[in-house]
Amino acid sequence: MTEPYMRVEKLVKKFGPFMALNGVDLEVYPGEVHALLGDNGAGKSTLIKILSGVHEPTSGSIYIEGRAKKFRSPRDATAAGIGTVYQDLAINQLMSVTRNFFMGRELTSAFGKLRMDEMNQIAHDEMLKIGIDFSDPTQAVGTMSGGQRQTLAIARAIYFGAKVLILDEPTSALGQKQQMEVLKTIKRVRARGDIAIIFITHNEIHSKLVADRYTFLALGQVIGSGPKAEIEAQDIRRLMAGGAEMKDLEHELSQI
Ligand SMILES: Nc1ncnc2c1ncn2[C@@H]1O[C@H](COP(=O)(O)OP(=O)(O)O)[C@@H](O)[C@H]1O
Ligand SMILES: [Mg+2]
Repeated sequence: MTEPYMRVEKLVKKFGPFMALNGVDLEVYPGEVHALLGDNGAGKSTLIKILSGVHEPTSGSIYIEGRAKKFRSPRDATAAGIGTVYQDLAINQLMSVTRNFFMGRELTSAFGKLRMDEMNQIAHDEMLKIGIDFSDPTQAVGTMSGGQRQTLAIARAIYFGAKVLILDEPTSALGQKQQMEVLKTIKRVRARGDIAIIFITHNEIHSKLVADRYTFLALGQVIGSGPKAEIEAQDIRRLMAGGAEMKDLEHELSQI
C-alpha cells in the first residue's frame, strides 16, 4: 500500500480537566475517502481543529509524509497541505464566485491591480474539473445552489495546495439532490488519486457510498477503524450509535 500522507498518533486534547480526545490514531491515504463518524460530542470537530491548526493538542503527534509537525496556527496547517472546508464555508454571498475563490489570495499585477480575467478563468476551470460548469464566475455566490457552494469551497482548497481535504458535514444542510452533487464532487476529487479526503458525516448511507475507510469516535476515543470491507462486516449501526448497543436502545423504545 502507499504511505499515508498524514498520520496521527495518540492525540490527546484536554479542556481543563475534560478529555475531549483520549489517544486518537488516524491515517489518511492519497486517493482515499476516510469517513470520520461519531455521535454529537464524540470529538470530531476537536480532532479536525487540531489537524487544521486551530487548537494545539495536549499531547500526541502529527506526521506529514513521515515527518513530525507542530501546527501553531491555521497557516502552518495550510502550508503542510491541510485544507479544511467548514460547515459555514466561509463564503460571502454578496461577492462574486471568483472573488470568493481568491479571497485573501488575489492575483495582482505589479501595480496592485487585480488580474480579474485570469482569476475568472482559473475559478471556472478549477470548478469544472470537479464537476460544476459555472459559466459566469463573475456572478454573486448567492446565485449558486448549496451543492455548488460546497464545490466552490472544495475547488478553492485544492487549488491552494490541499493534499488532505477535510470536509466537515458537507451534506448535512442540503436537500437530497444537492447532497448527491456533493458526493459526486467527493468522488471526482478521490479519482485524482493525489488527495486524501476526511469526510465527516452523520449519514450512514453517504459514508457507505463514498468511503474507502472508516474511523468511529465515541467520547474522544476510536471505537472502530479500518477499511470499508472490514468495518461493514462489523455492525455500522452499532458503531454509529457511538458504541451504544442498538438492540438495547430498540428494546428500551419498544417498551413505550
Ligand atoms: N473549546 C472547548 N471548551 C470546552 N469543551 C469543549 C470545547 N470544544 C469542545 N468541547 C467538548 O469536547 C467534546 C467533543 O466536542 P466536539 O469535538 O465538538 O464533538 P463533535 O464534533 O464530535 O460533536 C464535547 O463534550 C464538547 O462539549
Ligand atoms: Mg462537530
